[in-house]
Amino acid sequence: MKFPQFSMLPFLMVVVMLSLSGTTLSHPHWDFLHCLSLRLADYSTISKVIYVQNNPSYSSVLNASIHNTRFSTPATPKPFAIITPLKTSHVRSTLYCSKKHGFQLRIRSGGHDVEGLSYVSEVPFVILDLLNFRAIKVDTKNEVAWVQSGATLGELYYAIAAKTNTLAFPAGMCHTVGAGGHFSGGGYGTLFRKYGLAADNIIDARMIDVNGRILDRKSMGEDVFWAIRGGGGNTFGIVLAWKIKLVPVPAVVTVFTVNKNLEQNATKIFHRWQYIAHKLPDDLFMNVWITKVNSSQVGMKTVQATFRGMLLGGVDELIALIQDKFPELGLAEENCNEMSWIESVLYFGGLPLQSVDILLDKNALPTLSLKAKSDYVKEPIPESGIEGLMSMFLEEEADNAVAMIPAFGGKMDDIPENELPYPHRAGNLFEATYIVQWTKEENAESGKYISWSRRLYSYMTPYVSKSPREAYVNYRDLDLGINNNDYTSYEQASIWGFKYFKNNFKRLVQVKTKVDPMNFFRNEQSIPPLLSPWKKKGN
Ligand code: FDA
Repeated sequence: MKFPQFSMLPFLMVVVMLSLSGTTLSHPHWDFLHCLSLRLADYSTISKVIYVQNNPSYSSVLNASIHNTRFSTPATPKPFAIITPLKTSHVRSTLYCSKKHGFQLRIRSGGHDVEGLSYVSEVPFVILDLLNFRAIKVDTKNEVAWVQSGATLGELYYAIAAKTNTLAFPAGMCHTVGAGGHFSGGGYGTLFRKYGLAADNIIDARMIDVNGRILDRKSMGEDVFWAIRGGGGNTFGIVLAWKIKLVPVPAVVTVFTVNKNLEQNATKIFHRWQYIAHKLPDDLFMNVWITKVNSSQVGMKTVQATFRGMLLGGVDELIALIQDKFPELGLAEENCNEMSWIESVLYFGGLPLQSVDILLDKNALPTLSLKAKSDYVKEPIPESGIEGLMSMFLEEEADNAVAMIPAFGGKMDDIPENELPYPHRAGNLFEATYIVQWTKEENAESGKYISWSRRLYSYMTPYVSKSPREAYVNYRDLDLGINNNDYTSYEQASIWGFKYFKNNFKRLVQVKTKVDPMNFFRNEQSIPPLLSPWKKKGN
């Protein structure tokens, strides 16, 4: 290997750093580090930005944003380096050196990808971890904010609430989810029936394309701007930041929870809910969670449907509305709580209501191993079908399983299917996300939990959307099909692509072909370009 003399110093620093950490590296790894160290230029920056294996901080940096311990076992493939850029030029340098030396790049914001795609790859790779890109600028006067991709939803909500209690942002319910991946796949939470998805409320973005150009909405063009708002992450470029439109909320909202188990008619009430919930006013969000719980009979289990929701209004209005439209629920004042919107974020996030500061804590909730699958439902499921669904939750593997079922309708019905890549709009009664969880210690038995989720998915087949069986890209499911590491044909990717994006998949492929024809940004379920170089070589 021959290095230009004038540029030896930063690289020598990396060599010292690696020697001290005992790392042994092969040729391309050295080349990559040489390339990056030349561009980062000084030791102090290098030591804060590059983490190679055996660096004492490597594991803690890697694990800090792993939210599925299924992918943090000794057998899980690890990146040869994690790069944590401090500024935009570091991101460009990482992109440049990864391309030049043939390393796959996995972009990580919050690390919640349910299949671990932001931090696992079967081929040699580096992680570009945006953990230092977390700035948030809220402009209440113009009701907009800029949020960097590495910020969590909790940090975003906290920053908004620090300035006003009458503006909010309609995104997901888990406070540790990252803006980068969440907005890239759509993103919904308690305000989506009123205002649509997070992606529906993005008005500009700052992105680095495969050629290292820094683009905004105007310079990237409307096709690319359309694609990055829901077409899935790690596909069109590295999104550094998003400009979002804030939405009005009243100073007081009302949240409620009603639990009904099998002995309390959960099946019948859920059955009825399907006919009503999607037609309720869009100021109301309503979600049903199905879980296994202890029964009133000692040592016995039952299944519970938890009806949880929020009205953008007061408690009297809520009770009158539910008594009129859905009396079967038996909602009473003791089930309800008036609070500010930011407190409702804690409520739905399963966090204690004492202090909003917990929204800044990425470790406030335990991390488990999990497998997720999703469905969209367009016709009410008959009672007999719900009974079967409930009975599956009594099985042993379902101790830590949940079906999360938010009612659709409202604003989602008004947005055309092709407005953004996320196509699941009018005609859906609800989405169902099935999540089965287990502890890290149980990873050796993960197969049994995963096969339970596959059986549940198979059981649901007659009751859910068909041709295609639709799915939500933010609850990524590799069972739906995967890309090859090199060339993936349109036909092959269509198997999963139409499920996530319906006909929008075609436009996503066209955009991908235009902006990244060599398919540099890729993972097991990224949109492929139409004619990649591998195809041209006849592979
Ligand atoms: P992560 O960093 O893993 O990124 C996800 C994908 O986007 C990866 O492919 C990654 O490479 C890519 N990516 C990340 N940053 C990028 C960037 N800056 N530029 C380009 N590509 C980028 N969803 C929902 O709609 N509502 C909800 O309430 C919840 N709740 C929820 C709870 C929990 C516990 C989990 C595990 C997941 C959810 N989700 C959800 C799903 C969540 O929206 C989805 O997993 C997001 O992709 C996570 O985004 P992160 O940035 O955290 O993940």
